[in-house]
Formats: sequence, C-alpha cells, structure tokens
Amino acid sequence: MAILNFGSLNIDCVCAVEHIVQPGQTIDSTSFTRFPGGKGMNQSLALARAGGTVYHAGMIGSDGEFLRALLLESGADCTWLKTVPGSSGTAFIQVDQKGQNSIVLVGGANRANTPEYCDQVLSGFGNQDMLLLQNEINQLPYLVDRAYEKSIPIALNPSPMNEAVLACDLSKIFLFIMNEDEGCRITGETQPERILERMHTLYPQAQVVLTLGSQGSVYSGNGQRIHQKAYPVTAVDTTGAGDTFTGYLLAGMARGDSMEQCMKEAAMASAIAVTRQGAASSIPTRAEVLAALQEA
Ligand code: RIB
Repeated sequence: MAILNFGSLNIDCVCAVEHIVQPGQTIDSTSFTRFPGGKGMNQSLALARAGGTVYHAGMIGSDGEFLRALLLESGADCTWLKTVPGSSGTAFIQVDQKGQNSIVLVGGANRANTPEYCDQVLSGFGNQDMLLLQNEINQLPYLVDRAYEKSIPIALNPSPMNEAVLACDLSKIFLFIMNEDEGCRITGETQPERILERMHTLYPQAQVVLTLGSQGSVYSGNGQRIHQKAYPVTAVDTTGAGDTFTGYLLAGMARGDSMEQCMKEAAMASAIAVTRQGAASSIPTRAEVLAALQEA
C-alpha cells in the first residue's frame, strides 16, 4: 500500500536555550542551527526510513531544494512536490536543556496549495492507497473532502491543533494519531480514557492512537485496545518525536503488521529520535529501531 503524505516542509531555525523565553524577556542562545523539518516532511522521512512507500506532496520555495534532496535520498517519491516563488515554510524553535521545545511557524510555501493542485495530486491515487495529513498546510478541509470522495482512506495527525482541523469533516477520517491536548480539543474531555470513549462515540468509523508522552501510547479501534509503554531515554531534543511515531506507525500498518508491532516500532523510533538533535535529522532507520528493540 502506498502512502500519499500531503504535508508541510519547513526550514527549522533552532536556538538552544537554557529555558524557553518568557514574555518580555530577551535571552541568549547557546547555539543556532538550521535543520530540515516540518511535520509533513518529518513524517515522510520516518515513513521512508521505516521502509514504507511514500509520495510526498506539498510546496517548497526556492530556498527549499535541500529539503527535496533529503526526501529523495531517504527514498520518498517527490514527483508531486512543487517549487513555488518565495520562501519555504520556516519554524523558529527554542530547545531548552531538558529537550523541550516551543515553536513559531511562518507558513511560506506551505500556504500556497490550491484546489487545482490538490485535485491534480489526488488524481494519481485511489482506494488502495492511503492519505496522511497534518495541519501545517492550507486546503486541509478541501483535501479531506476530495480524498473521501475518491474513497482514499485518510489518516489525520491533527497537529498543530487549530480551527482548520475543526473545520474538517472528521467523520471522514479512518485513523487519528493525536496527543492528549489535541484529543481534548476535539472531544472536550481531559482524561485519556474519556477522550478515547468520546472519540468512538463521535467518530465510530475511526481508529484512534493517543500518544501520552512518558506514559506511552494507546491504540483503540476494531474492538482492540493496546497500551504501549514509552521506552525510557534521556531527552536531548523532543522536536519531531511525534512525527517519527506517526511515520513508523503508518509504515507498519501499510506493511500489514499487527497493531502491537506497529505501536512497538513507533514507540522505539520516537524514543531514539529524542536522543538526537533536530527533527528530520533525528529519525532512525528501521534497522536501528529493530536492533534497539532486540536489546530492550
Ligand atoms: O513536529 C516538529 C516540527 O514542527 C518541526 O520540524 C517544525 O518544522 C514544526 O513544523
């Protein structure tokens, strides 16, 4: 099964800081690095490094050719990736000494998607494929509606959560991969169990994966409930950990692996990612993930 990932690509401008800057403060950074990133791009890289067949669609500016090059090098298909005038998406990221981050996005080319371009890309895919979406591009509700019309199963990572996600017809989603905060914004519930229950009431068609940080993750769907522990590691940079989880999970599902195995590999891949700096650059290969699982 091929996965079309229609998503963002960013240039991540990362400052290492002692603590995340507070309102009214000016602080020094201890380093500054430009990394490849963007939730869409990170998830495509994770899919490709996990051995999945992934087509990445989206837009970069003239400064973003290195993002295309990295996707190609990792094995993602970039036939549909388009270069447009202007700048690529940019993320201004602070990473503190505990590896926690705060992120400000500038949409750039990620906001240049048009209905015509979406139709053109979707014309190459059908019900044997899968569409993966996040929320860093424009046209999200349009993509959901058109893909659903074409019977393409849609997996949604509703991140970052804002009104564009809530403007989508979420009854058209077959798989949600989300964190507690996103689950809370969709359901109004705060407890993980209540979020899952409410999701199944609101969207009975959907399977749900809820990530819980150091508490691991839960899969709920098809009458099955799987609790996956988080593998303990010392965090250096948590940026892109959720994207790594999503990519590995979907690659496993596309391969037809059991949900237990998909969750296990996704958890280990994201654990490895947080021990490394950067988002895209921190994503491990499947060989690394399988070796680490053998040792765990
Ligand atoms: O999820 C991590 C990503 O969020 C970063 O790579 C950054 O680009 C932002 O989009």
